[in-house]
Amino acid sequence: MRFSTRCIHGFGPAPDATGAISTPIYQTATFAHPAVGQSTGFDYTRDVNPTRSAFESAMASLESGAAAFAFTSGMAALATIAELFAPGDHLVVSADLYGGTHRLFADVSAKNGLSFARAATAREIAAAITPRTAAVFVETPTNPMMQVVDIAAAAGAAHAAGAKLIVDNTFLTPYFQRPIELGADIVVHSATKYLAGHNDTLAGVAVVSDAVLGERLGTLRCTLGGALAPFDSWLALRGLKTLAVRLERQAASAAALAAWLEGLQAVREVYYPGLASHPDFAVSERQASGHGAMISFRVADRATAHRVLSSVKIIQFAESLGGTESLITYPLTQTHADVPEAQRLALGIDETLLRLSVGLEDARDLADDLDAALAGGVGRTSPALKTPRRNAASGPAPALRGGDRAF
Ligand SMILES: Cc1ncc(COP(=O)(O)O)c(C=O)c1O
Repeated sequence: MRFSTRCIHGFGPAPDATGAISTPIYQTATFAHPAVGQSTGFDYTRDVNPTRSAFESAMASLESGAAAFAFTSGMAALATIAELFAPGDHLVVSADLYGGTHRLFADVSAKNGLSFARAATAREIAAAITPRTAAVFVETPTNPMMQVVDIAAAAGAAHAAGAKLIVDNTFLTPYFQRPIELGADIVVHSATKYLAGHNDTLAGVAVVSDAVLGERLGTLRCTLGGALAPFDSWLALRGLKTLAVRLERQAASAAALAAWLEGLQAVREVYYPGLASHPDFAVSERQASGHGAMISFRVADRATAHRVLSSVKIIQFAESLGGTESLITYPLTQTHADVPEAQRLALGIDETLLRLSVGLEDARDLADDLDAALAGGVGRTSPALKTPRRNAASGPAPALRGGDRAF
C-alpha cells in the first residue's frame, strides 16, 4: 500500500465482528480474561487498548518503524523517552528547540543527572559528542527558527559513538520526512499538531526502529502511565486519515505565502526551508519531499509585531500549530518564554519574530489578513497573493510532493 492509502488502512480492519468502518472507541479501563493464565492480548488500558493500537500500527507503518507508542501529549512522549537514559549520560541536542523540550531537559532531566551540549549542524553535533554521549536529539526543522539538520549525517555521527539518534519530526510528519529511513532510532511527534490535525486534542507518539527499543519504551510508558486515552486515540486516528491531503494543501499555501512575505517591505526576514534563500534549502530538498507549512518571519519592530498579533482576523493569535485553522504565535512570550534570554537572542527569538502555522483556509485570504494587519488599517500595501498552484480551478494536477514520491 502507498502512503496515503496507509493513512486510511494502515492499521487493518477494526478489531470487531460488526464490520465497523470507523475503528470503535474501546472506552474501557480493563479487559476480561478467558481463563487463568490466558489473555485476549488486552489486559489493562494503561498498557494496551485496541483503539490506541490502531493509531500506533498506522504510525509505525507511516514512519517505517518497528513499533509506535502513543502518549497523552508530545511532552509525555519526550519525558518518557528521557527515562531511557541514566544519570551520567550526555545528550547532544539541537541549539534551537521547542521551549517545552528545552524546559524538560534543563529543569527535569538535568536534575536526574543527564548533561547536555547544544549543536546546530551535523558538524557541530559530531564535534560535541563525548565518550558519555548516549543520544543525539534533533528537531528538524527546528521550532521556531526553521533550521534543518542533515539527518543521515547526524545518524552517522551518533552511531559512530554508539549513541542513538532521536528526531522530533513534528513539523514535517512522515508525509514529507521519514527519519528512520535516514538512520534515526526514535522518531517523536507532538501528534497534537499535523497528525491529529484539527486543533482539538493533545497527543504524542514515539516510533522506534527496532523491537528491543520498543520493549524498553513500552515498559516505561506502562510504568509512568502516559498512554493516550481511547477517545483521543480515535481523534488522532481520524486526523491521520486526511494527513496526506491536508499537508499537500497546507504546504502549497505555505510556499506561496513564504514567497509573498519575502517580497514585502514590512517583512525583514522569512524563515521557510522551501525558499531558495534559506541556508538549509539544499539539505531540506535532499532529505524531505516537501518543506512543510510552518513559516517564521521578522517584522521591523516590537510595535509592528504586536499590531499584527492583535489585528489578524482569520489567522488566530494562539499557541500550537499544524491544524486546520491558521495560527500565529509570538515565540518570545509564548512557546519559548522559558528559554534563557541570552540563548533566545543568540538564536534570533526576539520581539520582532512571529511564527505562522498555515492552515487550510484559502491562501489568498491569509495573505489579505496579514497584509491588513501589517498595514494597521491603512489598506492594501502590497501585491495580492497569486493563486497558489494547487488552488487552480483548471489545468493538470501538479505532481505530489510527499508520501511516496521518490527522493
Ligand atoms: C516541535 C515540538 N515538539 C514537541 C512539542 C510538545 O508537544 P505537546 O504540546 O503535544 O505536548 C511541541 C509543542 O508545541 C513542539 O512544537
